[in-house]
Amino acid sequence: MSVEHRGEWGSRMGFILAAIGSAVGLGNIWRFPYTVASNGGGAFLIPYLVALLTAGIPILILEFSLGHKTRHSAPGVFGHVSRKYEVIGWFQALIAFCITTYYVVIIAWAVSYAGYALTGAWGSDPKGFLFGTYLQLTDSPMKLGGLNTKVLIPLLIVWAVNYIVLRLGVKEGLEKANKIFMPLLVIALLIIVFRGITLPGALEGLDYFLKPDFAKLADPQVWLSAYGQIFFSLSVCFAIMYAYSSYLPKDSDIVNNAFMTGLGNCSFSLLSGIGVFSVLGYMAYSQGVSVAEVSSAGVGLAFVVFPQAISALPGMNGIIGIIFFASLIFAGLSSSISIIEAVVASIRDKFNMTRKQALNRFTLVSGLLSLIIATKGGLYILDIVDYATNQYGIVMAGFAELVIFSWFFKTDSIRKYANGLSDFAVGKWWLICIRATSLILGSMLFLKIKNTISNPYGGYSWLALGMYGMGVIIAVIIGAIILAKRKGSDKFEEDIYHHGIGNEIKLEEE
Ligand code: ALA
Repeated sequence: MSVEHRGEWGSRMGFILAAIGSAVGLGNIWRFPYTVASNGGGAFLIPYLVALLTAGIPILILEFSLGHKTRHSAPGVFGHVSRKYEVIGWFQALIAFCITTYYVVIIAWAVSYAGYALTGAWGSDPKGFLFGTYLQLTDSPMKLGGLNTKVLIPLLIVWAVNYIVLRLGVKEGLEKANKIFMPLLVIALLIIVFRGITLPGALEGLDYFLKPDFAKLADPQVWLSAYGQIFFSLSVCFAIMYAYSSYLPKDSDIVNNAFMTGLGNCSFSLLSGIGVFSVLGYMAYSQGVSVAEVSSAGVGLAFVVFPQAISALPGMNGIIGIIFFASLIFAGLSSSISIIEAVVASIRDKFNMTRKQALNRFTLVSGLLSLIIATKGGLYILDIVDYATNQYGIVMAGFAELVIFSWFFKTDSIRKYANGLSDFAVGKWWLICIRATSLILGSMLFLKIKNTISNPYGGYSWLALGMYGMGVIIAVIIGAIILAKRKGSDKFEEDIYHHGIGNEIKLEEE
């Protein structure tokens, strides 16, 4: 068996940039603005900030502490507590695996669209262009309709970039890539914001985005949306932050890093919200309709509404279009490399493989599966898998994680460990937050199951939802059980199980 150094961040800045890079992703640009607008506008920022402070940042502190202490990715972290919990680590890693498989395809669309923006290829009908000309969408998720070569080529490019960055390792690959992507993303977003807020109608857009509707705060669904947004957006509870923090040098501040990551991500979300809604405000103004009529989320926002808005701009349409899609590409890549790293690190740690061996295996399997999303019926599958992994997978993973660490573990030892390393300490409130969040996640899961049963997602047939939604979650559970049951390398078994570390991860030793 080869022995290869796991890797380490070269600087504190490198780690923070990478953690923010992972957090800031497609979710910030296309999910956040619409989630705010449809959940009470400015008033939503209250539950969002509450969720950030009571769940997001406390979980970052938890994950950073455990990754740092154990120097292991998710399976090893959970294995440290008990062999029977290793499966939760694999569940998280496999959720990351599923997310990678469609996430890269969305980045590939953004690559195509950066090219289309140059000429305004979507013409006067961006919707027809997206679903007809570009995606050549079939009429049902049961009809894949063969590979879409228009998506295939950019997808290969996206895979190549991810592969090269990850192959170069933590310091030379992940850290350097984030040092390039993140400043470029900031510049791109600032240009969009500047262009957006100087357009007529921008204020109406911002008004729609931020005007508080306090009555919405009485709706529990709004609070659950805020918590939901925080988990995906901060990249917590799906193995990423364990892997990233396992590469921290011994002497690293935990609490400060968690606050910087959480607040950094939140600022990006607000910035992209301001950019997106000022442009939408302009579009509504130029069409003489209300902002509500033009706003949408996800695929619709990025690939239909934005192209429409770009065409409607009074000038520099091509450049602004390229900059918008470039921002999706930079945000997407800085997240996709982290999602992949979460899985690669898990495989390497357990089976003592080299980075190259683990990455090759991952890329082969995930790459082949991503081809299904690149078929002509792929959008449907993407939509269902995204729903299943986000609304169920991450919530289940987070629920299991928080139940273990808040009810079956000496939780306070984690707080003391983090405080011992950090410039400023967190109080007992941290414990309360972690425990309360486990309850919130439990109720989220319950409500979601109830809602889905009475109202199947997206109007899809139960067959499609069963195959691509429930099927994926069941496959992830079975895969996690198999991987957890397999004997690890001698090093893994020795590290995790033979030291008899158990319940406290010996945190107080430090
Ligand atoms: N945190 C990443 C995003 O928001 C996964 O897209």
